Amino acid sequence: MLVVTSIAALPDLFDFFASVSHRRFESAISDIPFPPAQDTKDDDRQPGSDKQAGPYPASLQGGDILVAENGRQPDSEEDHPEKERNDVKTVRPGLALVGRVGTLEKMPGTLDEFWTLDGSTDFLDHGSFGATPKPVQEEQARWRRRLEAQPVRFFQRELETTLDNARAALAEFLGAPSDDLVFVPNATSGVNAALRSYDLDPGDQILITDQAYNACANAARYAASRAGAEVVVASVPFPLQSGAEVVDSIMDSVGERTRLAIVEHVTSPTGLILPIADVVARLLDRGVEVLVDGAHAPGMVDVDISEIGATFYVGNCHKWLCAPKGVGFLYVAPDHQSSVVPTVVSHGYNTEHEKRSRFHLLFDWPGTQDPTALLSVPAALSAMDGLRPGGWPVLMASNRRLALRAQEIICECLDVEPPAPEDMVGAMAAIPLPDADEQPLVYGRDPLQDRLFFEDRFEVPLLHWPEWPSRLIRISAQSYNTLDQYERLADVLRRRLTP
Ligand SMILES: Cc1ncc(COP(=O)(O)O)c(C=O)c1O
Repeated sequence: MLVVTSIAALPDLFDFFASVSHRRFESAISDIPFPPAQDTKDDDRQPGSDKQAGPYPASLQGGDILVAENGRQPDSEEDHPEKERNDVKTVRPGLALVGRVGTLEKMPGTLDEFWTLDGSTDFLDHGSFGATPKPVQEEQARWRRRLEAQPVRFFQRELETTLDNARAALAEFLGAPSDDLVFVPNATSGVNAALRSYDLDPGDQILITDQAYNACANAARYAASRAGAEVVVASVPFPLQSGAEVVDSIMDSVGERTRLAIVEHVTSPTGLILPIADVVARLLDRGVEVLVDGAHAPGMVDVDISEIGATFYVGNCHKWLCAPKGVGFLYVAPDHQSSVVPTVVSHGYNTEHEKRSRFHLLFDWPGTQDPTALLSVPAALSAMDGLRPGGWPVLMASNRRLALRAQEIICECLDVEPPAPEDMVGAMAAIPLPDADEQPLVYGRDPLQDRLFFEDRFEVPLLHWPEWPSRLIRISAQSYNTLDQYERLADVLRRRLTP
C-alpha cells in the first residue's frame, strides 16, 4: 500500500528537489580548495575528510548552523526537562557519543533555518521519504563539487577512505562493527541482496509478516520461487495490547521447514515498534535465521545491531537519519558474509586485497554512481544530533512524545481507542479510520488522502490495511512538526468523517 502512496507523491518530490538543487549549486566549484584528502585538516569547508577530528566532516565541526549560539554545553538542568530525561534513560547511552559538534541553543523556530520543506502543507509524513536538513544538503553539494572538479582523483584515490569514514560513523551509531556493514542504495536493495544470496532448497519456507513492506515481501516471493521454496505469512495483530501477541503469532507460524524469517523492526503500515531482540532470540533458538527490516528504525528508535543479534539487518538512512536519498545499509553477521553477493555484481567479484574484506570489496563498488548521499551520512548524524540539547536520545524521545500526544488527540476526536500500547509507538502512529465508502484512486490512493492534501493542506498517508475498505491514517512526528498541526488534522478528520 505504501508504495502506492509513495508513487503518488513523486511529482511533488521532483518539484521539491528541483527547487533545492537550483539554489544549492550556484557557487563556483573553485570555492573548494583541493589538497589531497589526507592534508585537509586546515580546510574547514572541505567535505568530510578530516580524519583527525573523527568520522564527522570538517565542514560540520563547529561550523555553520550547528554552533551553539552561546557555546553552552548541553548538560544543564534546563536543557533536559524532567520528562525528557526520564525518556532518555531507555536509550542506549553510547548514542550520545555521536554528538561531536556544537548544539543549537534551541530548536530552529522556522522551517527555513534547518529544513527546506516549503511549508505549503502541514507535512505529517516524515516516514515515507524523510526530509534532508539544509546543512546536509549543503554537505552533499560540497561532495558533488569535489567529485566533479576531479572525477578520477575522487573515485580512484579518495572514495575508499571517505567511504570507510562514513561507514565507521554509521556503524558506531548503529552499534555494529564497521567490518560487518555495507552501504546499499536503499532498504529494498539490501533486502534483495540478502535474499537473493540466500541458499534455499525446494520445500523450504521463508516466514514474513502480514505487515511486511510490499517490495520486501515481493523480494521474498521471488527468492522463494527461484528455489521452489514457499513464503509463509504470520499475522501481526492490529489493534493489539502487547508485543507478546506479535511474538506468539510469529513463533506459531514457524514450521519444520522455516529457514529464514523477515521481521520488521518498525512496521510500515502501522508504525509499530516490534520487540525485535526477543523475536530474533526466539527464532534463532528454533534454528530460524532472521533478516530484520529496519527501514524505519535508525533515528526513530535506538538501534543496537550487535545486541539484536540477527543474521541480517537492513535499514534506510534517508528516513529518520535524514541523510540524502539513495543510501541505506546492510549488516551481515560475520559467519554469513562469504555467501552474500550484492544485486549488482561488479569488480569486487574477482578483486583481492589484503587490507579489504571480500564483503566490502563486493559492495563498495557497484559501478559508477553518485556516492555523495552516503558520504553525507556523517553530516546527517551530526546535524540531527545537534538539533536538541542532549542530542539524538532527546530528539528521538521528543519525536516519540509528540507522536503519542498526536495519536491521543486524534483518537479522542474520532472516539477510538489508541490501537497499540505506548511502548510500541515511536515517531509514527497509525489510527484506524471508519471504512472507506469510495473506490481507491489510481495507484490505490484513498480519495480522502487527496482531499486532505488539496483542500486541507495536509501531507499525511492513508493506508488500506489489511485491505480496502479498512483504512488507517499514519502520522509521523519530526522536529519540524508541532502539536497544533495534529489538532487541526483531528478537527478536519472529525468534520469529514463524522455524520
Ligand atoms: C518496512 C519497510 N521496509 C522497506 C522499505 C523500502 O524502503 P526503500 O524504498 O527506501 O527501499 C520501506 C519504505 O518505506 C519500509 O517501510
